Amino acid sequence: MSLQAIHEATAYLQTATDHFEPHIGIILGTGLGALVNDIDIAYSISYDSIPHFPVSTVESHSGRLIFGTLSGKKVMCMQGRFHYYEGYSMQQVTLPVRVMKLLGIDLLIVSNAAGGLNPAFGVSDLMIINDHISLFLPENPLRGTELVNLGDRFPDMSEPYSLSLIEKATQILQSEGIASHSGTYASVTGPQLETKAEYRMLRMLGADAVGMSTVPEVIVARHMNLEVFGVSVITDMCIPETLEKAEIQKILAAAAKAEPHMTFLIKSLLAEIP
Ligand code: HPA
Repeated sequence: MSLQAIHEATAYLQTATDHFEPHIGIILGTGLGALVNDIDIAYSISYDSIPHFPVSTVESHSGRLIFGTLSGKKVMCMQGRFHYYEGYSMQQVTLPVRVMKLLGIDLLIVSNAAGGLNPAFGVSDLMIINDHISLFLPENPLRGTELVNLGDRFPDMSEPYSLSLIEKATQILQSEGIASHSGTYASVTGPQLETKAEYRMLRMLGADAVGMSTVPEVIVARHMNLEVFGVSVITDMCIPETLEKAEIQKILAAAAKAEPHMTFLIKSLLAEIP
């Protein structure tokens, strides 16, 4: 992925949106696309029309970039994201984050569906991401020299997720009586789910939830100095002793059940941002 590709995708979107300048980027995870229904949509652009943009190959992800207004803020929203397991390089997976930054965002909100490793969690609960483990990235989106000038060579990761937004989000959920937690998200490549031994290991390493996305995007967002807020929907519990067979339909149903809470959280959070 070259710097030129990033600039070409950015230039295409600037023209296609009459230079709409979003302040906030949102990436919607598996089964969480309904937030788009609340956006006052100005432009909706299919991924396959954007130069250099990968096309989402997962059925449960739609593949559109939405530009518009949500809670009074100018946003751009990825309805569907790219995963390493689809065959894309980490640089392709994270291209949209680079483009969002060049289009003008200063905050990135990421969401995902994740397996719960912390026994205190329940299915369809939200987990506000307060840290992550990227130990399992097979390829690093920051490797190489071509994109090095877009940020630091050795980006700091001491606090990737904005503490003030974590606090705000916690208050918002508490005040509505919505069950929520905060914790560490570990990323794996997928697409297979994990074995019991792997869940045991991830828990021992300190992870509260596990999933197949988000960490590459957050690394690139921090490389470009974006503020980040992340939230997981716990779609299935991954406790070795009580592990049930994973069924994608059940995972999607659990995500759908949490969708109103997720939508409420993101809308309320945006309303509180100056
Ligand atoms: N692993 C286990 N369960 C999950 C995952 C995962 O990556 N994503 C959603 N539920």
